[in-house]
Amino acid sequence: MTDDTYLWWKIAHIISMVTWMAGLFYMPRLFVYHALSVPSSTEYQLLKVMERRLLFGIMHPSIIMVFITGMVILPPWIEQIWMIAKLCLVGLLVICHLLCMHWRIAFVHDRNTHSHIFYRVVNEIPTVALIGIVILVVQKPS
Ligand code: HEM
Repeated sequence: MTDDTYLWWKIAHIISMVTWMAGLFYMPRLFVYHALSVPSSTEYQLLKVMERRLLFGIMHPSIIMVFITGMVILPPWIEQIWMIAKLCLVGLLVICHLLCMHWRIAFVHDRNTHSHIFYRVVNEIPTVALIGIVILVVQKPS
């Protein structure tokens, strides 16, 4: 792969990770408002629509693109300690993504059991993972 091609894949990688992170930051925030509203309200039904569009319109396409672009540029770095540590944090973000899918379904069926405080705490996990990932990928500690 030429250096220029590599850089274009990395550009696509950074753009898709930004859109994925936007979804991982926003979905738990929507759950905070959802947990504070009552199932019979218009707001509660509107939040269902917003969560569905965020998941299928942004989060799913973004996670697919982050993985495709990341895998394409991975080979030169695959045995590096920082990349292994980074992929562990990426694993944490994937768990956040799957849990967002699970909690969204609970709201769809009016079966949410978590409080707005729970979702405020959950909202911090992607932030911590992102800080770790960016430090690792820029500093590349060996
Ligand atoms: C399967 C998942 C992923 C793989 C295999 C992967 C792999 C890579 C590789 C090989 C690079 C190029 C390193 C370089 O050229 O310096 C890179 C760059 C980068 N990755 Fe990932 N990545 C993944 C997911 C993520 C995620 C989830 C984030 C953020 C939340 C992320 C953030 C970044 C950033 C910011 C860069 C640019 C670093 C720079 O330009 O110095 N990556 N990634």
